[in-house]
Amino acid sequence: MRLFRFNIYAIKKNNIMSKIRKFNRDFRINEDESFNEIEAQENEQPIEARAEGGIVTPNALPEEIFAAFNERIGDEYAAHYFYRNAANWCRNANYKKAASFFESEANSELEHAKGLQDYLTQWNMIPAIPAAPTSQAFSGLAEIVGKAYQMEYALLERYSQNQQQFFAAHPATFNFVQGYVSIQNDAVGEYSDLLNALQLINAENKLDLLIFEDKYFG
Ligand SMILES: [Fe+2]
Repeated sequence: MRLFRFNIYAIKKNNIMSKIRKFNRDFRINEDESFNEIEAQENEQPIEARAEGGIVTPNALPEEIFAAFNERIGDEYAAHYFYRNAANWCRNANYKKAASFFESEANSELEHAKGLQDYLTQWNMIPAIPAAPTSQAFSGLAEIVGKAYQMEYALLERYSQNQQQFFAAHPATFNFVQGYVSIQNDAVGEYSDLLNALQLINAENKLDLLIFEDKYFG
């Protein structure tokens, strides 16, 4: 049925073009190069290829990009579990605001992981999700903030390295990864601020930590 429709469409278009040419001849209108270009472009429509029923195989990403993305997917899931454990620790300790903050962080990491996987499937590749560490032990809020900073900074470095790597290999992926570099940049800034705020208090004092939590995680 589709084949039939395309052929009718092609026949109609050719008829229209021949009528335009006849009109131009009758009224002595010169067809300049732009007219012929338009006709050439019209004729370049892949009517014949589709009509023949040929199925084009879409392209995939270079193997090095596929491997790097799978590693980053693992990193994003590792970050998710890190924040999930942090939220649990804070909720148990009754740091209510910090618990909500880290729960939000954990959800964001799932979105980041999904974004990478959606990109791979967009490029016709099935993600190979690596194993990620699921358990984390903490002993205090300041420790969580410090470890979060280190994790986010390491991920900033990895995405930045990927960005440089993809510049020549695949410019479209270079553009895509820029978004993740920006996300990491913001995360590093956020935890950097929290670390600086910890310098304003006596982190050994429980009341100071409670004020810190109330002020910066609200
Ligand atoms: Fe992330």
